[in-house]
Amino acid sequence: MDMRLAVYGLLCEAARTAFPALKDTDLPGPEALEFPPDSKLGDFAFPCFRLARPLRLAPDRIAAAIAAAANQPQLATAQAVGGYVNFFFHRGHFAKAVLEEISEKGAAYGSQGDQGKTVVLDYSSINIAKRFHIGHLSTTVLGHSLKRIYTHLGWRAIGINHLGDWGTQFGKMIAAFKRWGDWQMLEAGGVEALNALYVRFHQEEEKNPALTEEGRAWFRKIEEGDSEALSIFNRFKELTLAYAQTVYEQLGISFDSYDGEAFFNDKMDRVIEELRQKNLLKPDQGAYVVDLEPYKMPPCLILKSDGATLYATRDLAAALWRKDTYGFDQCLYVVAYQQNLHFKQVFKVLELMGYDWAATQMRHVAFGMVSFEGQAMSTREGNVVHLDELLARAVQKAREIMQVKSPNLADEEALSLAARQVGIGAVVFTTLLNNRIKDIDFWWERALNFDGDTGPYTQYAHARCCSLLARAGDIQAQPDYAALENDEAQAVLRLLSRFPEVITSAMADAEPSYITRATLEVAKAFNKYYYEHRILEGEAGAIAARVLLTRATREVLALGLYLIGVDAPRQM
Ligand code: ARG
Repeated sequence: MDMRLAVYGLLCEAARTAFPALKDTDLPGPEALEFPPDSKLGDFAFPCFRLARPLRLAPDRIAAAIAAAANQPQLATAQAVGGYVNFFFHRGHFAKAVLEEISEKGAAYGSQGDQGKTVVLDYSSINIAKRFHIGHLSTTVLGHSLKRIYTHLGWRAIGINHLGDWGTQFGKMIAAFKRWGDWQMLEAGGVEALNALYVRFHQEEEKNPALTEEGRAWFRKIEEGDSEALSIFNRFKELTLAYAQTVYEQLGISFDSYDGEAFFNDKMDRVIEELRQKNLLKPDQGAYVVDLEPYKMPPCLILKSDGATLYATRDLAAALWRKDTYGFDQCLYVVAYQQNLHFKQVFKVLELMGYDWAATQMRHVAFGMVSFEGQAMSTREGNVVHLDELLARAVQKAREIMQVKSPNLADEEALSLAARQVGIGAVVFTTLLNNRIKDIDFWWERALNFDGDTGPYTQYAHARCCSLLARAGDIQAQPDYAALENDEAQAVLRLLSRFPEVITSAMADAEPSYITRATLEVAKAFNKYYYEHRILEGEAGAIAARVLLTRATREVLALGLYLIGVDAPRQM
């Protein structure tokens, strides 16, 4: 951003010099500066079209006059092309400005000071008694990355795992547990054993319909707060979470809250009462709904005919509770696009209740489906890829590859650390590579390819920088930036200088993929530079400059990987 502001300041100055009558209010803001599609057209382009009316002059005439006034013999060249002023930094000066800024800011490059704002992020939000499978991979890594991005940009970010811990199925699970289960088997078998109980219940229920009533009765007991029912259910919850925790730990994720659906059991009366008072609750065949016909949506179901509340009722209560508790400025729901309608309905109902913030502050961050090597996931057909297995296999595969490719990782400790970082990094990187709304088909060959658009490729560039820096040691000489005037170095510098804006747009669009791709681009550009230039050879001043470029590249690669939740190995 600083670079943009500097250029903007210079160009405004030039515009005032060329046109003393120009009013400040006629000038566009700094965001008007564009990045030309081709670097031959400059580092920035300033469009003059909006000045044509106040100045009563053709844009190309205006551009020519501003360009003439903007030339800075030591720093930059400005050229008028059509209605644009194309602005070129002098290459050595550009290198110096970019590298000084990155070395000054370090890991805080592109960060912003405390914005005094809070974002609530609802992500991962797994369901109790189910094993964590790749259907929850995207929400987990997207949410985690968004949390890091917001934090980097000066927001207070609250991560909530809105547990799916309420529903009639839990009554059935208790019934099954009472009939066929015991604690020993659950402690030993974990979520898998819970699942098996559930499957067995459904099989036996077909033969013995009395079971259905048994399940219902246990569910009622949970709702009434019966102590036996609750203690069994809470233990189910602990088992599920203990298992999920092993996955979160591997991904470096933690949450600020696990308050999910059940947490709102005693917080829904307020919502229902309020809906009633505001005349929004309509009876509908014994149930109660909010009519959304005028907004071309089906009604939002609030209470079933038996008085039970629903998923939407809980989300309404949760939204109000979060607003009261955290005073958020934004509340993001990282949930698959299948729930588009659900969130549209919930946001609309809040708006109808008079909460204007619902329209501007609540956001459904939707994403596509994940399939695995061409096969869609299906729980019913047992075609399920569990996340712990996926991660374990990724680590194992990364280890096999590195055993061949990285003989320098001879000692077991280094190898197993790198295998974990690379294996898990490959999975996360692939998940966050493309725009979130696109479906993902996960292939091992593609995700773990050290030469593709992958995590390992990007991590390798980082490790390469680390080893170059270790070899360079302490450098005393003054950097000679003329050594960075070549095209390859300039291409790296340009990407580094634009990185802060990538982070802000990633936040604005809730698109971590912008950062994934920009980080990958930095890795590619640096590798190209590395193959065409000898970094540690030649004049001391030139070496010093190239080492600074390497250090800044390492910094930005590490930052980009961090922001998407991927580790940056120093060695691999
Ligand atoms: N547990 C739900 C699921 O797995 C996601 C919950 C998302 N969050 C929410 N507040 N509705 O589909």
